[in-house]
Amino acid sequence: MKNKADIGMIGMAVMGENLSMNMERHGYTVAVYDIWDGVVDKFMNGRGKGKNFIPADSFEDLVSKLETPRVVMMMIRAGAPVDETIGKLLPLLSPGDIIIDGGNSHFPDTDRRCKLVEEHGMLYIGTGVSGGAEGAYIGPSMMPGGSPEAWPRVKPILQDICAKVDDGSPCCDWVGEGGAGHFVKMVHNGIEYGDMQLICEAYQVMRDYLGMTAEEMHAVFADWNEGVLDSYLIGITADILTRKDEDGSPLLDKILDTAGQKGTGKWTAISALDEGIPLTLIGEAVFARCLSAVKEERVAASKILSGPSVKFEGDRGAFLADLKNALYASKIVSYAQGYSLMRQAAVTYGWNLNYGGIALMWRGGCIIRSVFLGKIKEAFDQDPDITNLMLAPYFKDALTNAEDGWRRVAAAGILAGIPMPAMTSALAYFDGYRTERLPANLLQAQRDYFGAHTYERVDAPRGQFFHTDWMNGEVGDTASTQYNA
Ligand code: 6PG
Repeated sequence: MKNKADIGMIGMAVMGENLSMNMERHGYTVAVYDIWDGVVDKFMNGRGKGKNFIPADSFEDLVSKLETPRVVMMMIRAGAPVDETIGKLLPLLSPGDIIIDGGNSHFPDTDRRCKLVEEHGMLYIGTGVSGGAEGAYIGPSMMPGGSPEAWPRVKPILQDICAKVDDGSPCCDWVGEGGAGHFVKMVHNGIEYGDMQLICEAYQVMRDYLGMTAEEMHAVFADWNEGVLDSYLIGITADILTRKDEDGSPLLDKILDTAGQKGTGKWTAISALDEGIPLTLIGEAVFARCLSAVKEERVAASKILSGPSVKFEGDRGAFLADLKNALYASKIVSYAQGYSLMRQAAVTYGWNLNYGGIALMWRGGCIIRSVFLGKIKEAFDQDPDITNLMLAPYFKDALTNAEDGWRRVAAAGILAGIPMPAMTSALAYFDGYRTERLPANLLQAQRDYFGAHTYERVDAPRGQFFHTDWMNGEVGDTASTQYNA
């Protein structure tokens, strides 16, 4: 065994441990350290026994055991612990050494940390790592960004350990400077929230409107997992529906309906509001989790507020085909919105994002991996400058084919009182985006009426603003200055 390690791992919880195992399996010697006593010993006497790991018992010890220029990866809780760890490492490292943060850090933090580390002469990478514990072990999707000079040095390691698609392409490539990698991971997580919410809505329609059993729903999701919806999340949903509790009843029925969240979906929605991008589906997915969390309020409200109790009558097979179309079309909208956010953020932050490359990184290894992402990659290969994914020929046709079923499901759900915030907001976005003349003319008139905010006219050049004295001089005729909040 080498007496110096190729890379150091700080944080030997489930993700750090599995990534370290993955690196070692690919021929790298990994020095491992955890601030909690006993964690490294347990690992070295357990899964790490007899393998190319070098244990370290302090930050100093870890740094002393690394080949130079050093590469240190942190797999620790996002937030203050990352800043504290960087603070401990900086005095120990030398110019050219690289610190990698593989946690779910917020991208502005990564941007700030990248600048700080570079000011000290070292290099920084903030990388999204997706795929959970299993992905970390067998091959995650990774989205690295930060100091560009660091990429050639860490590229072999990250591309060796990441997931590969069928043709062998790695699900890991350079995303961009500063916080770009963590930004793309944040959008991945927002899309993950959207995909999960869409599946949950389809499940509720099947359970509460169609009155289907767990076995029947399992069969539908298993079938959907064979076609255009083939994805990790549909696959695990089919699997979840087979699991029985000790009494033989479906375990899913015993799980409390209150969703948790760690914040990455919320960050995505906030970022969309900051950028002025209508990311409605992911926003609804975050709020649906919030609504699920107020369980006591909902239980009380269920006894006061009434709704329809319509049960499905008709051709169940045909309705399930519509439901599949509703899910698929909504998913297209969700990804179109997510890509619009990335496109705008790239302008704001000066990133040169490779949209097809991002689809490839998400094609395998990560939680949102799917056949669908291969189609997104093809769409960007055909036209890298496409303004909205819904306009790509493949997705335009898919939306056209799915549209009628999508509308029937949305209408049926509304009439039956089944909440479907993601599917219905996706349809509203689709209808809004394809509408040449929205009612915002009235909105502008209202703004001008009460606040003299001015408006543009259909019969005048863009950028020329008008004000009407709606109140016949009662409050003067001065227009407000032009600014956009
Ligand atoms: C991944 C996941 C992961 C995320 C969890 C929990 O890509 O492997 O996105 O990073 O942290 O899924 O997220 P929530 O607790 O917010 O649902």
